[in-house]
Amino acid sequence: MVLSLAPMEGITGHVFRRAHADVFGALDRYYTPFICPPRVGSGFGRRASEEIDPQVNQGLNVIPQLLTRDADEFVWAAGLLAERGFAEVNLNLGCPSGTVVSRGKGAGALADPEALEAFLQEICARSPLPVSVKTRVGVEADTEYERILAVYCRCPLAELIVHPRVRADAYNGKPRQELYGYTLETAPFPVAYNGDVFTCDDFDALLTAYPATRHVMLGRGLLADPSLAQRIGGGAPASREELRRFHDALFAAYETEMGGNAVMRMKEWWSYAKESFADSAAVWRAVRKARRVDEYRAVVERVFTMR
Ligand SMILES: Cc1cc2nc3c(=O)[nH]c(=O)nc-3n(C[C@H](O)[C@H](O)[C@H](O)COP(=O)(O)O)c2cc1C
Repeated sequence: MVLSLAPMEGITGHVFRRAHADVFGALDRYYTPFICPPRVGSGFGRRASEEIDPQVNQGLNVIPQLLTRDADEFVWAAGLLAERGFAEVNLNLGCPSGTVVSRGKGAGALADPEALEAFLQEICARSPLPVSVKTRVGVEADTEYERILAVYCRCPLAELIVHPRVRADAYNGKPRQELYGYTLETAPFPVAYNGDVFTCDDFDALLTAYPATRHVMLGRGLLADPSLAQRIGGGAPASREELRRFHDALFAAYETEMGGNAVMRMKEWWSYAKESFADSAAVWRAVRKARRVDEYRAVVERVFTMR
């Protein structure tokens, strides 16, 4: 079984990957939050360069994710990634954000299966790295998926990661797992599942329903419970000390990177991680109020005695 960490813009970047792997052990794979390719002939910008720096990713199996609908830019970026030693590149066909979708990128690319096929065939033929895709199952309705999957099945993808919601769902409602099952039965390439695996029970139910599952990507579940992957593997839940160590490693690295803005970044993490505490509502109330670094530190001291 392959367990991977979902790409989550603003959360699961290199700082998170490293701190999490150091405290809870490395997952099998990590996908970077989406990166927009540079213009052909240019290098990656500062933030993207940090994300894909071999130094910060040492010892971790990292797959960079690109967000674009421009084949030349995709192929150019894949070349830069190959030079840095990556073995695969992932294409984002799921981002639901309005500005992304309106430009025909992310989930927006699913609206025109013919154009999608032309794009995919071209990048698969020209990319120096194998291309995997992370997809939703449609823009407005899941009836769109049959045509979209037929397109994927005609392309030589390295893997298809299915988040079985349509764009209009955002992250609401239940994932349409039956469409993942349909993909598993139909696709000629490896298929992965992503969506709403929050507990070991969710994971077990998925495997019971779809025993051929071989790769599960964990997102918000692993943010809420950083020990989720180790628990799925039969390990123990996170202890207070482990959580504290993880928190401190994250905060220290973000502070080095962005100074006082680290408090904002940590709040985003707490919006999920509060679930690891008995009284998550009280934890969230306390953390949300902190503005300055000294206030934040005092709140954290208090919160860790609440667990
Ligand atoms: C804040 C946030 C940022 C995300 N950023 C990305 C991204 O950069 N690329 C991507 O493919 N998906 C992104 N996603 C979607 C997740 O990778 C994942 O598909 C989604 O959270 C559902 O899985 P989960 O229920 O396990 O969290 C993001 C989701 C959230 C909530």
